[in-house]
Amino acid sequence: MPEVVPGQSVEAIDQAASLLNAGQLIGLPTETVYGLAADADNQDAVAKIFAAKGRPADHPLIVHIGADDLLTHYAREIPEGAWALAEAFWPGPLTMILKKAPGVHDVVTGGQDTVGIRMPGHPVALALLRAFADVKRQAGNPGGGVAAPSANRFGRISPTVAQHVVDELGDAVPLILDGGDCLVGIESTIVDLSRGAPVILRPGAITADQLSLVLGQTVKAVAHTSADVPRVSGALASHYAPTTALQISDSPAIRQALASGARVAAIVREDAALKAQPHVVVLANDPAAYAHDFYRVLRGLDSGNYERILVQALPATSGWAALRDRLGRAAHQSMSGND
Ligand code: TXA
Ligand code: MG
Repeated sequence: MPEVVPGQSVEAIDQAASLLNAGQLIGLPTETVYGLAADADNQDAVAKIFAAKGRPADHPLIVHIGADDLLTHYAREIPEGAWALAEAFWPGPLTMILKKAPGVHDVVTGGQDTVGIRMPGHPVALALLRAFADVKRQAGNPGGGVAAPSANRFGRISPTVAQHVVDELGDAVPLILDGGDCLVGIESTIVDLSRGAPVILRPGAITADQLSLVLGQTVKAVAHTSADVPRVSGALASHYAPTTALQISDSPAIRQALASGARVAAIVREDAALKAQPHVVVLANDPAAYAHDFYRVLRGLDSGNYERILVQALPATSGWAALRDRLGRAAHQSMSGND
């Protein structure tokens, strides 16, 4: 079993930075979800991520950095807008897709000419990234970024507490830094700045309106086509899914299903006519608070031996866009069956 150590401890950070430098993987808390991290400049180390997750090799990874100046080590032709977004939202739940610098390994980018970069807002992640960059510098090596996808097996729900990482990956990761539960709870917003007008590839806590305001132009979400699938693994309809069938429903249908005696569980919002009762989890009627709990609750119900999980439909407003996206994917997978 992996060693789970308190991420606040200086010794733990040093141990994790040494492991990364030695080409090992570590479990890393971020403010969005836990990541499975490797030295972004070490191809063999990055390859271990794909093996541990069972993830197809053409799915690109996000490079996490602890200082703005590392942007130029991993990206080139960085537009003004990218610096403005970094200034406004980093450290934080925003990933930018930029043209990659020549030295960035194909195993990180999935062979593409672009790279995803973000500076996470979790204090443990920042401490680790800064310690790791120091280790690299002291050894006379450039870099210090870590490539890290969410620390779940491919296609599964992202982990939001350290124990989930243990449950997902077991011995495939020797050390996990425990940073408590993730404040945001869903994956970062991804904005593509590499090809003209910026577009959102994956909605997240940083909204289109917030990005538009900083960039001084309207930022839209990309309409996914099947051609996008290898570029954005989050674009696979089958992502983020529990193994239990999941259905989006309204309150009357949920009430009926619960009353029928079937083995169903439900996730509802505070304002629902449904109050807490057996097999019902009530989440906040606020997107940030809902996102904080959503994956953990879904994971818990998924292991509860239910036939179906019913989730009350989410409001159609922009603040709920990221959660509608994740819920839609989870439901889609359930309908089409798991593989
Ligand atoms: O919040 C997050 O972003 C978390 C934490 C750990 O930072 N990470 C995360 O990584 O969600 P992952 O690998 O599970 O999802 C990253 C997404 C994938 O859908 C991937 O295809 C996309 O980012 N991506 C990465 N590099 C890309 C690129 N160059 N072009 C387009 N999409 C890219
Ligand atoms: Mg993921």
